[in-house]
Amino acid sequence: MIVCTNKNALLTALDTLKTQGKIIGFVPTMGALHAGHISLIHHSTAECNTTVASIFVNPVQFNNPADLQTYPRTLDADLELLEKNGCDVVFVPQVEDMYPEGTQNLEAYNFGTLETVMEGAFRPGHFNGVAVVVKRLFDLVQPDKAFFGNKDFQQVAIVRELVRRCMLPIEIVACPIVRQSDGLAMSSRNVRLSPEERTQAAKISQTLFAAQTLAQTEILQTVKQYVIDTINAVPELEVEYFDIVDNSTLQSISLWEDAEQAVGCVAVNVGAVRLIDNIAFMR
Ligand code: PAF
Repeated sequence: MIVCTNKNALLTALDTLKTQGKIIGFVPTMGALHAGHISLIHHSTAECNTTVASIFVNPVQFNNPADLQTYPRTLDADLELLEKNGCDVVFVPQVEDMYPEGTQNLEAYNFGTLETVMEGAFRPGHFNGVAVVVKRLFDLVQPDKAFFGNKDFQQVAIVRELVRRCMLPIEIVACPIVRQSDGLAMSSRNVRLSPEERTQAAKISQTLFAAQTLAQTEILQTVKQYVIDTINAVPELEVEYFDIVDNSTLQSISLWEDAEQAVGCVAVNVGAVRLIDNIAFMR
């Protein structure tokens, strides 16, 4: 595995691969890798003949400075995992590499109603920061396919829209959420949970699964209230939002019939750690 710690090293490594006509798969990450990220690497190695990953804790997508400061950083373990799982090239830039002109006055994207709901509403500026870094990474790597986890459901929609608007010839592949054995969605932030919080956090996905069953027979409002009340009844858990949305517009719906595919999206504060999860309602 080639580890590139600056842009020039990455471009040199990619030049060689591109002249060999390789299909390049790209997995952008912020490190602190877990089985969810590794599943993205596996999707890429299965579909492409070269896999490039990036590890970059992108400061401009954190609306909360404490979250940026406490974001887990485990570079050595990450590199070992990537190498073991068939990644060919990893790009580990410094902030100056990605933002040579500084992190102020960046390009401003407007994703309309896709970004005014859920994560976009509760984390002002977050998706602009994601779009800025993903566009810059895409410009450098120029992958054929890029792999994203469906846990960040709204992020996938934003990235698809970015690619559409910028007319980038990149296929965005959304991969299923990977869960721990009790159902908790894999997240780099899980390591910050205390043992007690970790146990209680499992109630988030367990409630979403129960809601999936309830949705077979109950109206949408009943299911919505059930999720909010059940999670809030668990000590340490506090729902920031739970909404049931149309999977392509991300807009809230009030009847199951209002969407071809309805998805329930939740953000929960577990002590000082904020977790998100989602579930598709099959009816
Ligand atoms: O999902 C993430 O880890 C980040 O938002 C991403 C896509 C790597 C951009 O920094």
